[in-house]
Amino acid sequence: MTSTFDKPKKAIILYDSMSVGGSADRLIDAIGKNLAEAGTYVEKARCKPNADYSFVEEFDLVLLGAPIYYLLVASKLTGALSQSNLRAVLKGKKVALFVICGSPEPMANFLYLPQLKMNLDNPVILAEKAFSPDETSDHNAIAEFANKILDAYGKAN
Ligand SMILES: Cc1cc2nc3c(=O)[nH]c(=O)nc-3n(C[C@H](O)[C@H](O)[C@H](O)COP(=O)(O)O)c2cc1C
Repeated sequence: MTSTFDKPKKAIILYDSMSVGGSADRLIDAIGKNLAEAGTYVEKARCKPNADYSFVEEFDLVLLGAPIYYLLVASKLTGALSQSNLRAVLKGKKVALFVICGSPEPMANFLYLPQLKMNLDNPVILAEKAFSPDETSDHNAIAEFANKILDAYGKAN
């Protein structure tokens, strides 16, 4: 169990999705609720490739996540990592990664999560998970992911 001093004060979920109100929105809101219930202030922001991500500096914890479309992580999230200052801002930051995909988890771990990791420059990765579309409504799976992030955050401090 983590003490109150070991918890992130501010977290942001950076994401992209082709849909509005789809599984990514559902999952992000549920992860955010879990973190908020643990005492963390949570914001979310849909990524644009060429935005200025300096504002992310102020967050203790950054979650990066998106669905997979046609074998690729939704393009505005990977675009932000490759084209903006986001990659530099995340250097040394505590991050958690997730994707949502229809493929089996081993394939997602092999093909999809690396698309995020290859665009990062030495962050502290606290947790990573490939969610199936069904799991975006699974309270236990979501709570387990949020708790894993919070536990790892406490240990990393
Ligand atoms: C056009 C389209 C392409 C997709 N391509 C893939 C894919 O290549 N691999 C995969 O594992 N899942 C794929 N999926 C499944 C999505 O990742 C999954 O349905 C996800 O929940 C969609 O998130 P959203 O509801 O936020 O759009 C695809 C879904 C759509 C609609």
